[in-house]
Amino acid sequence: MKATAKAPANIALIKYWGKTDEILRLPQNSSISMNLDGLFTTTTVDFDEKYISDEIIFNGEAKSKQAGRIIKHLDLIRKIAKTGLRAKVATSNNFPAASGIASSASGFAALTVAACGALGMNLNEKELSIIARQGSGSACRSIPDGFVEWHKGDTSETSFAESLHPADYWDIIDIVAIISDEEKAVSSTAGQTLASASRFFAPRLENIENKIRVIKKNLANRDFRRFGEIIEAEALELQAIMMTSSPALIYWQPKTLEIIKGIHKLREQGLEAYFTEDAGPNLHIFVENKNRSALIDKLKGFEGIKRIIACKPGSGTKQVDTHLF
Ligand code: DP6
Repeated sequence: MKATAKAPANIALIKYWGKTDEILRLPQNSSISMNLDGLFTTTTVDFDEKYISDEIIFNGEAKSKQAGRIIKHLDLIRKIAKTGLRAKVATSNNFPAASGIASSASGFAALTVAACGALGMNLNEKELSIIARQGSGSACRSIPDGFVEWHKGDTSETSFAESLHPADYWDIIDIVAIISDEEKAVSSTAGQTLASASRFFAPRLENIENKIRVIKKNLANRDFRRFGEIIEAEALELQAIMMTSSPALIYWQPKTLEIIKGIHKLREQGLEAYFTEDAGPNLHIFVENKNRSALIDKLKGFEGIKRIIACKPGSGTKQVDTHLF
């Protein structure tokens, strides 16, 4: 009983940060994201009586720090499917793990779809999103296509993501600028528990529904300038919450700030580019496709960018026929 799934990473435009339920991973607020077609995880899951325990191969290695969390997610899926079968799981990313690129999002989306597919569970997108969410919150947004909204909900059944627009809806590009691919010291799961220690967190939550309404309108109008302004302001607000948590979380590196200033300069010179950022030093820089080469040329002149990955809006998680083992 084997199945393979390929899941995109997603970048949050309006962020998920803080939970009301740590176990179910219910978020404090709804969030909006875009799937990234250039960054993905492929996962094969095989359930079989021949396995006496779960066997996890993560990026080619049998020993992985992620194994415990993966097995916990398999346990949840086994409980839903009412089976005791153990599994072999092989999973591989085409990008560095734990670098501020959401590897847990694509990882748990791929694991969910592959495991549920292997068990022949025949679930719809909403059901898959609900299961993926319990592995990693942001993973629920990697299940549907393109531009996505995660409704925060107040129970497990009401907290899921759905597509707002398909991947080909808007010709914009996220240029991911990798500044560091080192594993971050504080994971986003741990970081989020500190959010409410920031005195800016309550005002953030007061305004977040309004922000979501505005970005959905900008998306509906394909208004790139307003879209850019709001995602950049949101990224800075998130960093402000992190920096004013206790203890303070500072994900920026000096190069991050240098590049932010460089992006502002490019805008002054007429190149419309806007950044967003998650729990890490790397930047996601958005441009309209017509400005893609111009931005990449400029970024190549910036010091401190190790690698650039250009991503179009991507489709959601799909089962595929090519297995990893
Ligand atoms: C900053 O989804 O990694 O990327 O639910 O604890 O696994 P867990 O957290 P995770 O948090 C992502 C936080 C973020 C913002 C976002 O993606 O919305």
